[in-house]
Amino acid sequence: MPGLLSSPVCLTVICFLSWSLRPSRAQIRTDEVSGVQYGRLESNVTLACGKSQIRIPVAWHLNHSSVLPWHKVTSDGTLVLLHVDHSAQGNYSCYDNRGLLLHSVKLRLGHPPGLLSISCKVPNHTHVRCSWVDSVKTFLPAKYNASFRGTGQEWRPCVVDVARKHCDVDHPAFWQTIHILRISETNALGSETTSVRFRLHDLLKPDPPESVLVNELEGYPKRLIVSWNFPSSWPLHDAFPLMFQIRYRPQGSIYWSEVYAEESPVMIFDALAGYPHEVQLRARDEVNSDSQWSEWSPLLLVRPWEVSSTSESPELLLPDYIFPFNTKPETSTAKPPGGIIITVKLIKDHPEDEGNLGLAILLVLFSVVILTTILSLIFVVWMRQRRRDHVTKQELTSMVKMKSMPI
Ligand SMILES: *[C@@H]1O[C@H](CO)[C@@H](O)[C@H](O)[C@H]1NC(C)=O
Ligand SMILES: *[C@@H]1O[C@H](CO)[C@@H](O)[C@H](O)[C@H]1NC(C)=O
Ligand SMILES: *[C@@H]1O[C@H](CO)[C@@H](O)[C@H](O)[C@H]1NC(C)=O
Ligand SMILES: *[C@@H]1O[C@H](CO)[C@@H](O)[C@H](O)[C@H]1NC(C)=O
Ligand SMILES: *[C@@H]1O[C@H](CO)[C@@H](O)[C@H](O)[C@H]1NC(C)=O
Repeated sequence: MPGLLSSPVCLTVICFLSWSLRPSRAQIRTDEVSGVQYGRLESNVTLACGKSQIRIPVAWHLNHSSVLPWHKVTSDGTLVLLHVDHSAQGNYSCYDNRGLLLHSVKLRLGHPPGLLSISCKVPNHTHVRCSWVDSVKTFLPAKYNASFRGTGQEWRPCVVDVARKHCDVDHPAFWQTIHILRISETNALGSETTSVRFRLHDLLKPDPPESVLVNELEGYPKRLIVSWNFPSSWPLHDAFPLMFQIRYRPQGSIYWSEVYAEESPVMIFDALAGYPHEVQLRARDEVNSDSQWSEWSPLLLVRPWEVSSTSESPELLLPDYIFPFNTKPETSTAKPPGGIIITVKLIKDHPEDEGNLGLAILLVLFSVVILTTILSLIFVVWMRQRRRDHVTKQELTSMVKMKSMPI
């Protein structure tokens, strides 16, 4: 019975003791490492040995070593680190002359925030994403507060992703011409606010077209069919039409041919037979001429249809080499399978075709030479005939003269 009685009493006492001791142990802990102190790089940093004034001589350690960076200790035991650099960071502890730990603090060094360099992306009419880079490397953790508004409107938050250093605004007031974004960066050493003004219309830049495919068309050695999808971030709605630019060239050529289209697919009629072609495309808002072209889609390499190599003979392909830019369809019955080709702009002939052009010029020159020769021959024959006629006429007149002369 006394055992039963004494054990709850004992437990209570232990509980009380541990309850009363725990805070004091924690107190000692927080005294030992009273947290983190922040200091500016390349400045003098002052570390106090606890809150109370200490008159006894103290010893400072950094990371449990008595080797300290360039410093001085004042009469009240305060440590002043002079012109600190990164190597001065660490755990500083001060001890009294009996070796008892009085105070400990972790020192972190860096810079206050500087202005941010901000850039915004507008992939469609309902989304703005602004990202930033620090102009000053602070070496310290920072918080960002970003807000956004159109001229004359209320500030509204731009939702921050600290790790990726960007913020997002959904459904911005697109009809407002000027928008202002304000980002405040705050760290342990200070705060800085950066503002930028921009026009959403100028920044509107769709993502590149997706699922781009380029196919040969069987039986047509100069055709390619290009198909694609709208970028998935662009709304599929008649109110938001996109314009697409397709460019292509035989592999190795430096000159692109271009086609503009509103809809997929598009037929290329003037591919260079027998050559693999590089094809890519990009998109732009069709309504807003201030907006930007998307990035190009990745290059695709496709070879137009060819007669199987066994039956292939250079004579068969020769006409294509002489007139490589005959854009007429090979047969008039075949039509592009839907899609509108708006303009076909040819920048320059392919280098390979300069040889073909030369051949054509040679042929023309050759025929001119032959024609000239024939004409000269005719002229010579005619001249000789004329001269003969002339001579006979002269003979006749002289004969007449002779006849009329008195004998
Ligand atoms: C740092 O302290 C040294 C020595 O006391 C002094 O000469 C120097 O001007 C101080 N530097 C700054 C930036 O306060
Ligand atoms: C510095 O102090 C912190 C907190 O007490 C500790 O976690 C860390 O290991 C210490 N670092 C060194 C180098 O002593
Ligand atoms: C002290 O330790 C910290 C890590 O807590 C380290 O970054 C620093 O370089 C160390 N300083 C020295 C002087 O060893
Ligand atoms: C962020 O900035 C806005 C507008 O200036 C302000 O209303 C808000 O309190 C700020 N938020 C924080 C967390 O500082
Ligand atoms: C606009 O773009 C953003 C970011 O890519 C996307 O999350 C959003 O769904 C797009 N809006 C529409 C209507 O497609």
